Amino acid sequence: MKKILIEVVIFGALTTSHNQILANMNHSSGHNHNTTFNQATFVKEFQKSLLLPSILNGEVQNGVRTFDLTVAKGKWEFIDGKFTETYGYNGPILGPILSLKKGEKTKINITNNLAEETTVHWHGGILSQNVDGVHNANIQPNTKKSVEFILNQPAATLWFHPHPMHKTASQVYKGLAGLIYLEDEQSQNLNIPKTYGVDDFPIIIQDKKLTKDGELTYSTTHMEKIHGKSGGHLMINGVISPYIDIPNGLIRLRIVNGSNATNYDIDLNGKDFYQIGSDGGLLSNPVTMKNLSLAPGERGEILIDSNILNKKSYLYINQKKALELRKNEKFGLTSIPKALVEIPKISKNLENLKTRVFTLKTTSKGNTINNIPYNMEKLNFEVQKGAQEIWEIKNGSKMMDMPHPFHVHGAQFRVIERNGKTPPLNEQGWKDTVNLNAGDTVKILISYTTDGITVYHCHILEHEEGGMMGQFQINN
Ligand code: C2O
Ligand code: CU
Ligand code: CU
Repeated sequence: MKKILIEVVIFGALTTSHNQILANMNHSSGHNHNTTFNQATFVKEFQKSLLLPSILNGEVQNGVRTFDLTVAKGKWEFIDGKFTETYGYNGPILGPILSLKKGEKTKINITNNLAEETTVHWHGGILSQNVDGVHNANIQPNTKKSVEFILNQPAATLWFHPHPMHKTASQVYKGLAGLIYLEDEQSQNLNIPKTYGVDDFPIIIQDKKLTKDGELTYSTTHMEKIHGKSGGHLMINGVISPYIDIPNGLIRLRIVNGSNATNYDIDLNGKDFYQIGSDGGLLSNPVTMKNLSLAPGERGEILIDSNILNKKSYLYINQKKALELRKNEKFGLTSIPKALVEIPKISKNLENLKTRVFTLKTTSKGNTINNIPYNMEKLNFEVQKGAQEIWEIKNGSKMMDMPHPFHVHGAQFRVIERNGKTPPLNEQGWKDTVNLNAGDTVKILISYTTDGITVYHCHILEHEEGGMMGQFQINN
């Protein structure tokens, strides 16, 4: 009698949680699917200042700006008094900011001190396969590798992260991600905030599941394979609920969604801010906004005028206070430039361009693009170097109601249509990742100037590893 009762109770509990998962799948907006963040029960909020990674200028040797990056394990105090095992570049978590100049020869010496292989991918860089750090570029444990490249593209906030086959998701989750500040003459001459840590701040947003003891392990349940590893503690630059001191005037936030799978809606609780940059560079003009949505892999640079804020205000991420903004006694810039940079106009005559269709799909069995899972041994198509093409990307996961951020390596593209309409102003600049909510169709204009084989994939890292990726050859 007793036994039966227990079974009924257990069965009841299982049914409820399963139904809840299904309800989340069906009713989410497609933006912040299925994500709940832990209340900061064992973390005091807004007690720690924002971590500011060190900015490296490298050393110029024979005309080549040279940097050293060491990938290693470390210990990081997400929760006071609890030391979590993490991975980092040149430190326990995340990485330094590499300060690069457009057109300059750059060399990165990478040392892998992990017990597993890794690669370093320069996300957003217009780079050829031999230096792009994807899959077959593995750096074995306790070995070194140097890569040399030139970034000949507009000033932008790019980022770097691991990309070894089937290990990207776990290595990013454990902490590997760093920023590249690529500057050019235009970005340096603009009258916008650029004093690091004073009015110009890096903001890497992530979420990670930590146990009470601060343990961080990467594993995926069946549902996490489908939805991606999402939820847990929300953090900025590896710090849960940090604060920053800001001047009276303009501040610039260079925001990167570095999470494995979570989309973020970023706002100031109804107040205006101004987007000035997207993935691959500054926009032509600042765009006034109340909400910025960033999918995994995407970047957005914004200006905030602190004169409209209270002495203590908050940056909200998915309706949660995520960063405390504390005004200090200093004064910063006050006027927002009307124009930023020139971005090529999109020609009206695109009818004769080759169009390719990419349909992204999640099923409970796996992920595909055009119904094919990624196969490292196969090319999905070939493109002609320099030729402009239109790629029509469709999110075919209507049943699953999941967003998919589509990312390409080795190029920056332009979004020309979102669901049959001109895209919003903040999506009209250079992009390397574009989000598609369930049922969306997006058209991009793209052209390759690099060499070799390049990949494209969903930037939900669990989807990428589960097959939502493809590759093609660029022909001269
Ligand atoms: Cu952040 Cu394959 O990319
Ligand atoms: Cu990339
Ligand atoms: Cu996806």
